[in-house]
Amino acid sequence: MKVTLYSAQPYDERFFEETHLEGFADEAFELVYQTATLTHQTTALAEGSDAVCVFVNDVLDAVVLEALAGMGVKAIVLRCAGFNNIDLDAAERLGFFVARVPAYSPEAVAEHALALAMTLNRHTHRAFNRVREGNFALDGLLGVTLHGRTVGIVGTGRIGLATARIFKGLGCRVLGSDPFPAPDFADIGEIVALDTLLARADIVSLHCPLLEATHHLINDASLARMKPGAMLINTSRGALIDTCAVIEALKSRQLGALAIDVYEQESGLFFRDRSSEIIDDDVFSRLMTFPNVLVTGHQGFFTVEALREIAQVTFQNLLCLTRGVHCDNALITR
Ligand code: NAI
Repeated sequence: MKVTLYSAQPYDERFFEETHLEGFADEAFELVYQTATLTHQTTALAEGSDAVCVFVNDVLDAVVLEALAGMGVKAIVLRCAGFNNIDLDAAERLGFFVARVPAYSPEAVAEHALALAMTLNRHTHRAFNRVREGNFALDGLLGVTLHGRTVGIVGTGRIGLATARIFKGLGCRVLGSDPFPAPDFADIGEIVALDTLLARADIVSLHCPLLEATHHLINDASLARMKPGAMLINTSRGALIDTCAVIEALKSRQLGALAIDVYEQESGLFFRDRSSEIIDDDVFSRLMTFPNVLVTGHQGFFTVEALREIAQVTFQNLLCLTRGVHCDNALITR
């Protein structure tokens, strides 16, 4: 089976090759690594492939899926949990097998959410630069003690639950909001309505999927309901937040601090070195001017354990297809 991996970075190649050799060497997989993102312009790179393996910013709309089906591609395997970037109706109509990696390391993303909160709160990113320049002044580095503060977890699934456990361990009060709360959450915190969570939380951390119902969940109205000066963390999907509304809330000081690992327009920016380019996204550039904004480039998942798990589960998903057996991770079976 020939599999073309789109948006393939050197680390993807490393972990896929290692996993192939260690666990799947007897299987007839031929892996082709393409750095290009899957778009309308790059479908031809999958010519001759049985499957394409994609990541968060690859585009799998009806046009792309029709082009892939026309070339004989039979399967789409996602190297991620979220599947908001694929038109599942079109994929089903075209007879694709589609599978994902539902949980590669919830703790990896939860720990990154904690790292963002800690960094923003205690300004360690600024302290690091200051001390290296011989500046030991503390002015501007004042934080708050997180012990005893209230943290609101929006989406109490795998990652939300792991994040809740971490903040509980710090001695925070934990609130959750979820239409289908995880039963285990009851041992950690209290489930409340979103508005109550926004009004009470000192830190709001987003862990729900991007759906029609959650698109711009954080907007002018919800920002106005937040506790003044609260911190907002988004490690889930960029479009949960209306970035322009967040910029206004930062300017008015209603929002105290923002940390994002995901950004609504990230597909044109993230996962590439753009340090020699002019960034023409003015919204992103405005965000970067705030001292109380911290942005990382979708690295929440980026641990050794998670990359191993992604490769392992992706091979297993492909094996289910080749052997014609049930696949727990399938979104669509042929
Ligand atoms: P999950 O499916 O285990 O949990 C999602 C939870 O959100 C569920 O409990 C669901 O009921 C809840 N939910 C749905 N609609 C909601 C709403 N309107 N309000 C509040 N909660 C709602 O998903 P998991 O594994 O915890 O992942 C969460 C998200 O994290 C993924 O959808 C993905 O977008 C993102 N993610 C980000 C990564 C990164 O590197 N930054 C890596 C992996 C996932």
